[in-house]
Amino acid sequence: MRIGITYNLKDEVTPLSVLNREHNEEYDNINTIDVICSVLKKNGFETVKLGARLDIFDRLRKEEVDFIFNLAEGYYGRNRESIIPAILEMVNMPYSGSDPLTLGLTLDKIMSKKIFQFAKIPSPGYAIVRRLEDIDFVNNSLPYPMITKPAWEGSSKGIYNSSRVNDKKELERNIKLLLKKYPKQPILVEEYIKGREITVGVIGNDPPRVMGLMEIINKKHPGKDFFYSLEVKREWEELVDYKLPPDIPQALDIKIRRLASMAFKELGCRDIARVDFRISEYNEPYLLEVNPLPGLSPQYGDLVIMAQKQGMAYEGLVIAILNSAFSRYGIKEIKKEMPTEVKL
Ligand SMILES: Nc1ncnc2c1ncn2[C@@H]1O[C@H](COP(=O)(O)OP(=O)(O)O)[C@@H](O)[C@H]1O
Ligand SMILES: [Mg+2]
Repeated sequence: MRIGITYNLKDEVTPLSVLNREHNEEYDNINTIDVICSVLKKNGFETVKLGARLDIFDRLRKEEVDFIFNLAEGYYGRNRESIIPAILEMVNMPYSGSDPLTLGLTLDKIMSKKIFQFAKIPSPGYAIVRRLEDIDFVNNSLPYPMITKPAWEGSSKGIYNSSRVNDKKELERNIKLLLKKYPKQPILVEEYIKGREITVGVIGNDPPRVMGLMEIINKKHPGKDFFYSLEVKREWEELVDYKLPPDIPQALDIKIRRLASMAFKELGCRDIARVDFRISEYNEPYLLEVNPLPGLSPQYGDLVIMAQKQGMAYEGLVIAILNSAFSRYGIKEIKKEMPTEVKL
């Protein structure tokens, strides 16, 4: 079998990346793609690095691949992650991961929140800002502290150490900055949930299984409130400790697992996702977002760190994703003993 890999790289130059350095934050390093290729080759597959540029139709036709391992983040707008899967559906090509609708719904955090509300999954209170005049409404409708973020981003783009605001003046400063930096999308303002942060890996389908819960801890000042801003993610080695399993009451652990699987299913995720939660000081979990295209960097991908912390090698993770996708298409799964059992 010939597997094509679709992806975008950090060093691809687009008009947006020239205007805003943050733009490349969500893209992959070629090293990640090379490591995935070597895992696939080791398991008997031919691999083709397709990328996800404008020549993708030609490349798909020429390379005659049988299956796509999709990592493409896309370039512009809230549908950017959906473009490659939509093209693959157009040419009837099987691929790993979620479909275009789910990728669009999860990238747009406002749409996701509407689904969480409908499914009664707790998520922080919020308000939407589309223009500067909306500030008064937000100021009057949510309690401080709040956090400001662009509505259609990921990888902490637009979320800085200064994104938590304590008063109207700070709120106004952030709104002005985000309207300028991310002018084509609304700003999501949320109630800031003071407390702990836990990210959850979910893998497979029918039913999806929780891979593990991992706490993101302030390494320099343990126990002191902090959040996963762009600055913190960039300096994760100095600033973050990852704890698996987190030291939480069993009832909370069960609740988080249930909410993570619910969110995965409600949004129609497939094969893999990472689900982010904040836990309030009263041990109440709040769902922040679902990431159906989680970073797979062998060095710093949160999901990869999570897998490794429970003895699952990188290879095991890639094969588990592939096997979930293969089983959806009735393709024979790779027979490989996983290094450890994936915990249910
Ligand atoms: N409502 C909130 N309360 C507290 N912290 C938050 C809240 N929203 C976001 N954060 C912090 O910002 C980080 C990034 O936010 P998130 O919504 O997950 O966006 P991204 O898609 O960029 O990961 C979170 O991991 C968390 O640390
Ligand atoms: Mg997140």
